[in-house]
Amino acid sequence: MGGVFITFEGIDGSGKSTQARLLAEGLRARGDDVVATREPGGSPGAEEIRALVLEGDPDRWSPETEILLFTAARRDHLERTIAPALSAGKIVVCDRFADSTRMYQGLRGPGLRETVDKLHKLMIGREPDLTFIIDMDPTKGHARAKGRGGTEERFEDFGAALQEQMRAGFLDLAETNPSRCVVIDGDRAPEAVAQDVLGVATARIAQS
Ligand code: ADP
Ligand code: TYD
Repeated sequence: MGGVFITFEGIDGSGKSTQARLLAEGLRARGDDVVATREPGGSPGAEEIRALVLEGDPDRWSPETEILLFTAARRDHLERTIAPALSAGKIVVCDRFADSTRMYQGLRGPGLRETVDKLHKLMIGREPDLTFIIDMDPTKGHARAKGRGGTEERFEDFGAALQEQMRAGFLDLAETNPSRCVVIDGDRAPEAVAQDVLGVATARIAQS
């Protein structure tokens, strides 16, 4: 595949969606051909799975079933949206990808991370070229996410301890995958964060 695949990861409320939007705008302003997308979702089938997995009772699905649902959504998204765009030489900017399953499902019990990684290898087999980990104090992120409202709240009421574990997990992912991951301090004005993100992204695109 040609193109450049860029993802945003981090805890809820860290500013991923805002930064993904600003990056897409910044790249388009320089004349790049950008496909902006998100997970779970990003293709019609995956958006249907999104509604199943994000709405309703917090105990609606077991972590194992969630791994299957998020991976099924990702496979459809990859087949229908991401891979065709990359093959056409476009830049794909995606709000969350497989690292979210590694953290949100993989940290929920013993052996789950291994299951996530195996299924990823079998069914997805693709990592981003560049991943921004937007780092943020979970208490502040939670307050931001709560302020947003909406019905997709199944994951937003995780306790503070789990949120801290997720933050540490994302930072650990960045350390173990230094060739694709860049940690960005999200606790600043959106424009300041966006400037750093655009600088790193354009440098990476220039190498492709
Ligand atoms: P995420 O996608 O990581 O959950 P969002 O981009 O949706 O985060 O941001 C969550 C909320 O915080 C939104 O209401 C957004 O407007 C606000 N927000 C985003 N970035 C910042 C920032 N750097 N400073 C203050 N508020 C922000
Ligand atoms: P998202 O819409 O990005 O929410 P937010 O903007 O609040 O970060 O994602 C919705 C929720 O889905 C979020 O709480 C994280 C969760 N999620 C998983 O648990 N596993 C996954 O693989 C993905 C992609 C998301």
